[in-house]
Amino acid sequence: MTSYSKIVGTGSYLPPKRVTNDELAQQLAKKGIETSDEWIFSRSGISARHYAEADVLSSDLAVAASQRALQAAGLQANDIDLIILATSTPDHFGGFPSTACVVQRKLGITNGSAAMDVQAVCSGFIYAMSVADSFIKSGMYKNVLVIGAEVFSRILNFDDRTTCVLFGDGAGAIVMTGSKEPGILASKLHADGSHGHILCVPGNVNDGAIAGNAYLYMDGPAVFKLAVSVLDKVAREVLEIAQVDAREIDWLIPHQANIRIMQSTAKKLGLPLEKMVVTVDEHGNTSAASIPLALDQAVRDGRVKPGQNVMMEGVGGGFTWGAVLVRM
Ligand SMILES: CC(C)(COP(=O)(O)OP(=O)(O)OC[C@H]1O[C@@H](n2cnc3c(N)ncnc32)[C@H](O)[C@@H]1OP(=O)(O)O)[C@@H](O)C(=O)NCCC(=O)NCCS
Repeated sequence: MTSYSKIVGTGSYLPPKRVTNDELAQQLAKKGIETSDEWIFSRSGISARHYAEADVLSSDLAVAASQRALQAAGLQANDIDLIILATSTPDHFGGFPSTACVVQRKLGITNGSAAMDVQAVCSGFIYAMSVADSFIKSGMYKNVLVIGAEVFSRILNFDDRTTCVLFGDGAGAIVMTGSKEPGILASKLHADGSHGHILCVPGNVNDGAIAGNAYLYMDGPAVFKLAVSVLDKVAREVLEIAQVDAREIDWLIPHQANIRIMQSTAKKLGLPLEKMVVTVDEHGNTSAASIPLALDQAVRDGRVKPGQNVMMEGVGGGFTWGAVLVRM
């Protein structure tokens, strides 16, 4: 009898084009927009980000990350019976098929497995993991591929220095499977649609064309305030459900948006900063991809080990937020 779901493989992929703060500042200067490495790094902790080439889609990044996760899990693509893909930058903006279905095809999965996208912006991967956990525990699916993949550079307005310097492209994936041992210990998801306007892409498709603004809009200070007020609370909710003490957390893997938000959360949870996995410096904010990217890096460099407790948490547009406590 399956009682839990467990992570049995992780993978990630960053497109090769890496752009440092200095390089981005030089590009923006050509348009008369002033920024600097000093401003970007001191406000956000970001030093560089990766951008996908124009012909590369979220599904391409997702496939590369998924292949690595499948290999780590020792599974074939056709062993997967459900794909859940979190993205806000799907292959078909305002259209379909879902990016999860595109990934299924590109991975060569022919077993009729289910596939769907989840849209919860930067909390998307946490939402997707929680959904996968529920499906596995119910006995409906056994091997679930959970992906966060983004080409956020497509929705950045490079005339808006307050947002364009903060985001990047990438993908991360995990394979979750049914297990008698934990596994996912607990998860909790939240949303409050009344804050939707502070972080959004307000455009839509109408009459075959984009109507309104298809670029990301963010009220940075308002987002900052909300993020720091919810992240430690949701982590505590999850600890309470799992009956685990904060001191038993081996690693905190927060959504990688801003080092100051991340540090504030660790501090409120009483965790030393050495217990937090940080990749925002190298990736910028990759939205739904940020948590699995950070997890994969920490698994592969040997920091995250089997048996350890890992708290993952995210916050993003919607507004949405959530946390998952995992025993690796
Ligand atoms: C966006 C953010 C980094 C801005 O930092 P901040 O300290 O709040 O900065 P402010 O917005 O107060 O702007 C300070 C000044 O810097 C300027 N500025 C903004 N972007 C700049 C840039 N890229 N380079 C140089 N100066 C910049 C502003 O114009 C402002 O100038 P002014 O005081 O002359 O008006 C910060 O609010 C933040 O991180 N918010 C959360 C973002 C986030 O995590 N989003 C994702 C959540 S999923």
